[in-house]
Amino acid sequence: MRRILGVTSIQGETAVPGDKSISHRAVMLSALAEGTTTINGFLAGADCLSTISCFRKLGISIEQDGERVVVDGKGWFGLKEPAEVLDTGNSGTTIRLMMGILSSQPFHTVLLGDESIARRPMKRVTVPLRQMKAKIDGREGGEYTPLSVRGGGLQAVEYHSPVSSAQVKSSVLLAGLQAEGTTVLYEPELSRDHTERMLRSFGVNIESFAGGVRVKGGQSLLSPGRIDVPGDISSAAFILAAAAIVPGSRILVKNVGVNPTRTGILDVLREMGARLVLHNEREVNGEPVADIELQYAPLTGIEIGGDVIPRLIDEVPIIAVLASQAQGQTVIRDAAELKVKETNRIDTVVGELTKMGASIEATEDGMVIRGRTPLHGAVCDSHGDHRIGMAMAVAGLIASEETVITNTESINVSFPGFFDVLQTISE
Ligand code: S3P
Repeated sequence: MRRILGVTSIQGETAVPGDKSISHRAVMLSALAEGTTTINGFLAGADCLSTISCFRKLGISIEQDGERVVVDGKGWFGLKEPAEVLDTGNSGTTIRLMMGILSSQPFHTVLLGDESIARRPMKRVTVPLRQMKAKIDGREGGEYTPLSVRGGGLQAVEYHSPVSSAQVKSSVLLAGLQAEGTTVLYEPELSRDHTERMLRSFGVNIESFAGGVRVKGGQSLLSPGRIDVPGDISSAAFILAAAAIVPGSRILVKNVGVNPTRTGILDVLREMGARLVLHNEREVNGEPVADIELQYAPLTGIEIGGDVIPRLIDEVPIIAVLASQAQGQTVIRDAAELKVKETNRIDTVVGELTKMGASIEATEDGMVIRGRTPLHGAVCDSHGDHRIGMAMAVAGLIASEETVITNTESINVSFPGFFDVLQTISE
């Protein structure tokens, strides 16, 4: 439980922990590559630690000391059949990407997660992986955990994913790397492309084209030796949003990943009227990185939908908070995927922000927020969802009276030290 009080402004310079999506992939690809990889800037949050624990059970030696991880890869077929169930915790990325990797392995594995994972749909990966000839079983025909995989002997597939999901895309591509033939994955809108970029830095030949991506089977991975993970733009979003709603604020968040498949939040902040500047733009391990400066300016409501949605899907809870402080109406549509995240984020955001006095309504595929509304303190619950807990904490910075957030331990999933960072930039 945490208590949040109103602040007068958000000021200074800060940094955020490593990118969650990139940290998972760094461990996975390093474990499957030939050679030793040192990962710097690793996100030592619960989700990425679940990925490390799964690979240790698969026989890979991994040293982890805070943000530094050393993985001793033994090549794609250096994994061994685990004697224990693989626990993926709260992490959708771990379970869905592991399903793709394990589909190529000539042995049996059982995967499980927490009660949130038990509610999340898995047919989006089990359907294409079965088409590739992996033997997968699971509750309700393979829709829910526990899941079991007996892999090996994969055939390439041409798969049209019904959802724009990087987890689905990555799972199919990872399986495709060891399938016979060329695997092609089509998606309705481009989802985050960290897997494609990182595979290239491991020497894999993979071709992105408008509408999809193609990979030939039988390719091995060679460690680049070192991977530097940039700060997570999805974590930076909470800090930037805090400065965007507290008048007089100015913040610089250093070393943030600004991959264009992730920067929908920056587009939204700009369109709403925040003053945003990117400094020191550079490329690290094939990923664009920059320092992001935001200065407060009054916000106005906007319409958000279509192909920007996958580029900001994890930022919708904090965008709802921004919208409550923007003049006029904000409409978020085409975001039904929010219903199958760590919680049903349409319901949890609407429910919690309503408690603080926001004017917000759920729709079939998003929400409508009318601003600008003064918020008041309330007792808010994270529902065990890190991004809901952080969004409500940021809302608490401008609320009258104290806001109490319960179940804040979930924030460790993606942003350990969140409250300390908030404290150091609050005045
Ligand atoms: C992720 C992909 C997204 C995102 C999640 C991380 C990834 O999920 O919401 O936090 O690392 O591939 P979907 O693939 O389900 O859209």
